[in-house]
Amino acid sequence: MKRVGILWLLLLLFTGVAPALAQSDAGAPARVLGNPDDPNACLKCHDAPKVTSVLHTAHMRETDARTKVATEGCQSCHGDSHEHMARVAEGQKRPLPTFVFNGANISPVVSRNQVCTGCHQGGAVMFWQASPHASSEVACASCHIAHSARDVVLAKTTQANTCFGCHAEQRAASLKPSHHPVTEGQMACSDCHNPHGAAGPHMLKGGTVVDTCLSCHDEKRGPFLWEHAPVQEDCTICHTPHGSVQASLLKQRPPYLCQTCHDSSLHNSQPFSGASLPGGALPSRQMVLRACLNCHSEVHGSNHPSGVRLSR
Ligand code: HEC
Ligand code: HEC
Ligand code: HEC
Ligand code: HEC
Ligand code: HEC
Ligand code: HEC
Ligand code: HEC
Ligand code: HEC
Ligand code: HEC
Ligand code: HEC
Repeated sequence: MKRVGILWLLLLLFTGVAPALAQSDAGAPARVLGNPDDPNACLKCHDAPKVTSVLHTAHMRETDARTKVATEGCQSCHGDSHEHMARVAEGQKRPLPTFVFNGANISPVVSRNQVCTGCHQGGAVMFWQASPHASSEVACASCHIAHSARDVVLAKTTQANTCFGCHAEQRAASLKPSHHPVTEGQMACSDCHNPHGAAGPHMLKGGTVVDTCLSCHDEKRGPFLWEHAPVQEDCTICHTPHGSVQASLLKQRPPYLCQTCHDSSLHNSQPFSGASLPGGALPSRQMVLRACLNCHSEVHGSNHPSGVRLSR
């Protein structure tokens, strides 16, 4: 019994109420929100909070002359959608709006993105077309929630969750003991990356790895009286940006890190060399505690007149 009741309700809704609403527009061209003649064309049928929430976003600020919203309203993103709004003959399905951004009838990603890039081209999204996100067919609306007054990807404290949805490796890294304070909400992925693409590698904001890192860690910039060649070349030779089980985001623990380049026979840095005690070998000073850093503490470069060995 209950089911029949619901069916009746649905039938009434689609064959009766909806066309009646559309009828009021009959003859006149489709009007849209913001148009002084008919500010409510779409909203007549769409009054659910998850739809009307768009009215509280930057896109629907009618006072902002740069938004087409003042003249084109919902259609500025969903397209003119004439057939969708028109009266639907009995028994027929309502045609889709020109652009659908979610759900089962979602439009192809290329056309969805063209809607957004129609207005957003320069500035932060300048390198979009050449970005790995664009070439992997990631949609603008995979990250941005257009209908939310609080687009979570724009906020430092919530952004990473959006990224983690696709980047599981970086999520795993962020849980390691040494990491940038991203999950703590003090930093965002977008402090280092421009997710819309960048001129340099890996969509890094700074152009190069070193310039990206130095934008915050300026004290490592130099020029130093005594430089350490790899530091000027690429911080990620020794560090991993997203998280590490080693202290200081190091890729490996010294001395092994240092010995990827420096000969391990160098001043007796074999694991068990140097002084021995009766009954066993004593690990060399090069290997214990902070290993090479016991003596070479200024590994990023030194300004001390006698810091040539990066030891002061
Ligand atoms: C005459 C009533 C009516 C008008 C006017 C109308 N719609 Fe719809 N719209 C519907 C109905 C009915 C559905 C399908 C049921 C649902 O999902 O709400 C729908 C669905 C949609 C969907 C989801 C499509 C999908 O398949 O997932 C979008 C997006 C949409 N409408 C946007 C718009 C926009 C933008 C406008 C104004 C340009 C508009 N609608 C005007 C009745 C209307
Ligand atoms: C800035 C572009 C933009 C504008 C303007 C816009 N929409 Fe949307 N709309 C989207 C996107 C993107 C989605 C997918 C969900 C999301 O990101 O919030 C969507 C989803 C929808 C849906 C499907 C909601 C659901 O989940 O069932 C409807 C219906 C809809 N919009 C109607 C409207 C109406 C009505 C207006 C005007 C009041 C409007 N939209 C204005 C971009 C826009
Ligand atoms: C009709 C032109 C137009 C279209 C289409 C459009 N935008 Fe916008 N968008 C704007 C304007 C204008 C602003 C306000 C700019 C500002 O405040 O600096 C804006 C702001 C934004 C912002 C910043 C919001 C904020 O709160 O600061 C984001 C993110 C954005 N748009 C994403 C999108 C996405 C994603 C789409 C496609 C679904 C889209 N836009 C489609 C014109 C448009
Ligand atoms: C991979 C996720 C992602 C995708 C895909 C994405 N964005 Fe963004 N977008 C962001 C993040 C994160 C920010 C905040 C950037 C920041 O704070 O530096 C942002 C910011 C913006 C802004 C505001 C920029 C400003 O200067 O304030 C606009 C506009 C925008 N995006 C438009 C777009 C458009 C258009 C597309 C598709 C062509 C798109 N976005 C695709 C993540 C994304
Ligand atoms: C401190 C700066 C920094 C932060 C913060 C950061 N990244 Fe990265 N990311 C980098 C650098 C540098 C690279 C390039 C090379 C590497 O992995 O060594 C990179 C590479 C990547 C790559 C490509 C990985 C690969 O192996 O090719 C992805 C995906 C990525 N980052 C996603 C993220 C996400 C998601 C976040 C936020 C949770 C994030 N990044 C935060 C600096 C950063
Ligand atoms: C809808 C899924 C999706 C979301 C959400 C997403 N990405 Fe991606 N991202 C991809 C795909 C697909 C690639 C290209 C293939 C790859 O490298 O894994 C990619 C690649 C990257 C790269 C590597 C670029 C390179 O040249 O190595 C970085 C950096 C990156 N994303 C950062 C982010 C950040 C930051 C966010 C959040 C603001 C984010 N992504 C959100 C899917 C996504
Ligand atoms: C947006 C600013 C910013 C950028 C860009 C940045 N960092 Fe950081 N970095 C931080 C902050 C904040 C901390 C945490 C400082 C603290 O906890 O006292 C940090 C900490 C570190 C640490 C110490 C981690 C630990 O566990 O002690 C290392 C190493 C580091 N960053 C290397 C890098 C490298 C390499 C890059 C470039 C890929 C980079 N950072 C880019 C802000 C930044
Ligand atoms: C040759 C390897 C190597 C390279 C290359 C390197 N670092 Fe380091 N970095 C280290 C080691 C080892 C430590 C740990 C130092 C300690 O515990 O005293 C460290 C520690 C740090 C720390 C945290 C402790 C501190 O001194 O503030 C930051 C931040 C940092 N590095 C940034 C950078 C940046 C930025 C770059 C690139 C410009 C870079 N590093 C390049 C080896 C390197
Ligand atoms: C990517 C390779 C690489 C790594 C890793 C590396 N170094 Fe170096 N290091 C060099 C190069 C190249 C020089 C310059 C050698 C020269 O000028 O003859 C150098 C120079 C030095 C010097 C000064 C040597 C001199 O001739 O005065 C010291 C000390 C040193 N490194 C210590 C370390 C320590 C400690 C670590 C580990 C934290 C480390 N290095 C990691 C490549 C590396
Ligand atoms: C106990 C202190 C100490 C420790 C620990 C130590 N060094 Fe040294 N290192 C020195 C001194 C002192 C010199 C200068 C020796 C000289 O001029 O003959 C030196 C010189 C060097 C040089 C320059 C050698 C040359 O021939 O020009 C390099 C490179 C170097 N150390 C790397 C390392 C590496 C890598 C480790 C870790 C495996 C390490 N050191 C551990 C004290 C130390």
